[in-house]
Amino acid sequence: VKSEIPHLSRKILVAVAWPYVNGEPHLGHIAGMNVPADIFARYHRMMGNEVVMVSGSDMHGTPTTLKAADEGVSPEVIATRYHEIWSKALEDMSFSYDLYTHTHTDRHREVTQELFTKLKKNGHLVEATQSMPFSETEQRFLSDRFVVGTCPHCASDSARGDQCDTCGRTLDPIDLINIRSSRDGSTPIFKDTTHQMLRLGDFQSALEEWVEDKSDWRQNVRNQTLGILREGLHDRAITRDIDWGVPVPLEGYESKRIYVWFEAVIGYLSATRAWAEQQGTPDAWKKWWVEPDGESYYFQGKDNVSFHTIMLPSILLGSGELNMPTDVVANEYLNLGGIDFSKSRGHAVWLPDFLTRYEPDPLRYYLASIMPETSDSEFTWQGFHAANNNELVATFGNFVHRVLTITTRNFDNAVPTPGKLDDDDEVALNACDTTLKEVSNAIDRRKFRDGLRAAMRLAQTGNRYIDTKEPWKTVKIDKESAGTALWVGLNIISTLRTVFYPYLPTSADKIHSMLFKDGDTLSDGWAKRDIIPSDSIGKPKPLFRKLDDSIIEEENTRLIGN
Ligand code: MF3
Ligand code: ZN
Repeated sequence: VKSEIPHLSRKILVAVAWPYVNGEPHLGHIAGMNVPADIFARYHRMMGNEVVMVSGSDMHGTPTTLKAADEGVSPEVIATRYHEIWSKALEDMSFSYDLYTHTHTDRHREVTQELFTKLKKNGHLVEATQSMPFSETEQRFLSDRFVVGTCPHCASDSARGDQCDTCGRTLDPIDLINIRSSRDGSTPIFKDTTHQMLRLGDFQSALEEWVEDKSDWRQNVRNQTLGILREGLHDRAITRDIDWGVPVPLEGYESKRIYVWFEAVIGYLSATRAWAEQQGTPDAWKKWWVEPDGESYYFQGKDNVSFHTIMLPSILLGSGELNMPTDVVANEYLNLGGIDFSKSRGHAVWLPDFLTRYEPDPLRYYLASIMPETSDSEFTWQGFHAANNNELVATFGNFVHRVLTITTRNFDNAVPTPGKLDDDDEVALNACDTTLKEVSNAIDRRKFRDGLRAAMRLAQTGNRYIDTKEPWKTVKIDKESAGTALWVGLNIISTLRTVFYPYLPTSADKIHSMLFKDGDTLSDGWAKRDIIPSDSIGKPKPLFRKLDDSIIEEENTRLIGN
C-alpha cells in the first residue's frame, strides 16, 4: 500500500562536466568541478534526498585528436589511456560518482542519436551549406579547436573556433578574424560543406523566460547567459567533417560526426540512463529528467557556461519532455601561484602525482577553502601547508584529539555521564545546532566556502570551550564537571563529523569509528548523533598529519623543474 504522506525527499541530479581526456587531471580541474559537486552530492545524500551523480570522460573532442596526432596513435588509444588515469584519480579523491563513464559507449551513441532524431522530427534541425575552414596543407576540414583567431566580440587574439575563453562567447570558425590553423599556422580557406544546423532561435524566448527568474544563480553565469541571449541566437552547425565521434543518423552523412559539444552535454542523460539500467531499474532516470520535481545541478568551469545555459537547454526544450537545469554552478579559475611562471609552459600540480605524497582530505579542504566561486583564486604550496597545519591539524584535529584522549584516559574508554549543564555548556550545544543549519543552508545554496567556514568555526568554538573548562585539570578535583565538559566536547565532535562529511568524508568516517560502534556517518543523516553515557570510545588516532615546513620549498622547486 502506498503511503498517503507526500514524499518529501528531493531528487537531485549532480551533473559534473566531462573532462577532455587528452592529459592528466590537475588541481584546477577538480577545484572547479569535482570538489563542489561531491560536497553537494554527499550533503544531499545525508539529507535523505535521492541523489544521482554522473559524469565521464569527453572522449571525442578535438583535444584528443590533437594529442593523438602528436603521438601518432589513434584517438581511442589516447582517450582510453587518460580515461583510466582520470577514473583512478577521481576514485582516489573519494569523489562519490554513481557512474563515471565516457562518451565512446554504445549507450551514449544511442541516446545521442535518439535525441538528435527527435529534434529533427520536432523541426529544430535543418540542413544548410556552411563555409568551414579547410586546410590546403593538410587537405581536410579544420574544426573548432584546430583554428584560432581574433574574437569578433572582444578582440582577444586567442579565440578558438568553438569559443572565446576571454569573453565566454560561443563562436563558429567563420566568426574568427585572422583565422589560422593551430596545427601549422597556415591560413585555411573556407570551403562549402553540408551540415545539420540546430535552430537555436526556436528557443530564444523560452530561454529568456527561463533565465529571467534565476536570481539565485551566480552572477557570472547569469550575466554571461543574458549577454548571449541579448545578442540573439542563430543557427549553429551540430555536425562536423571528422571521423572521430558519434555518427550522424542520417543518410549522406557517413563521413561526418555529431559536433562534440552537442553530444557531450547529452552525456549527463545517457549516463543517468546507463546507471539506471545497471541498477536494474531502467526507468529510474525519469525521476530526475522527466518528473516535474526533479532538480539538476551542473558543475563546471566558467568556460563551459554557454554550452550548459544555451546549447544543452535548447536540446532539452527541443526534446519536448526533458527537465531544464535547476542551476549551472560554474566556478572561475584556480591559478597556480607562489612562483612567477607562465601557464603556457604547462605548469600545473598534477593530481596523480600530488596523491603520491599527500592525502586527499587536506586537498579537498584547501581547495574548498579557496574555491574560485566568484573570482579566480590562487593555489599556493604555502597556502596548502598553512591550511593543513594551522586549520586541520591545530584547530580541528587538535580539538578532536584532546577531547578523545582526555576522555579515554580518565573515563575508562567510555562516554562520561554529564552533570547539570551550565550556561557555557548550553551555548556550546546550541552552537552545534546552529552550525548544522548554517552549513546546510550554505551547501544547499551552493556556497561551499561559507559552509566550510561555518564548520571550522564550530571546531574553534570547541577549542575555546575546552580551554575554558580545562577538563584535564578539573578531572583531578571535580570528576563530574570534567565529565560534563567532555560529554559536551563529544557532542561537538559528533556534530563536526556530520558537517565535515561532505567536505572531508574520510576524516568524518574516522571520527565515526572512534565515537560510535555501529552505523555510519552517511546513514545517520544530517544531525548530531547523540552521545550516550557509558558507550565505549575507540582508541584516539590523529585525524591529520602535520606537514614539514620544508615541503613548501621542495614543491616549489619541483614546479620550476617541471
Ligand atoms: N570536455 C569539456 C571541457 O573539458 C567539458 C564538456 S562538459 C559536457 O571543457 F557536458 F559537455 F560534457
Ligand atoms: Zn571574446
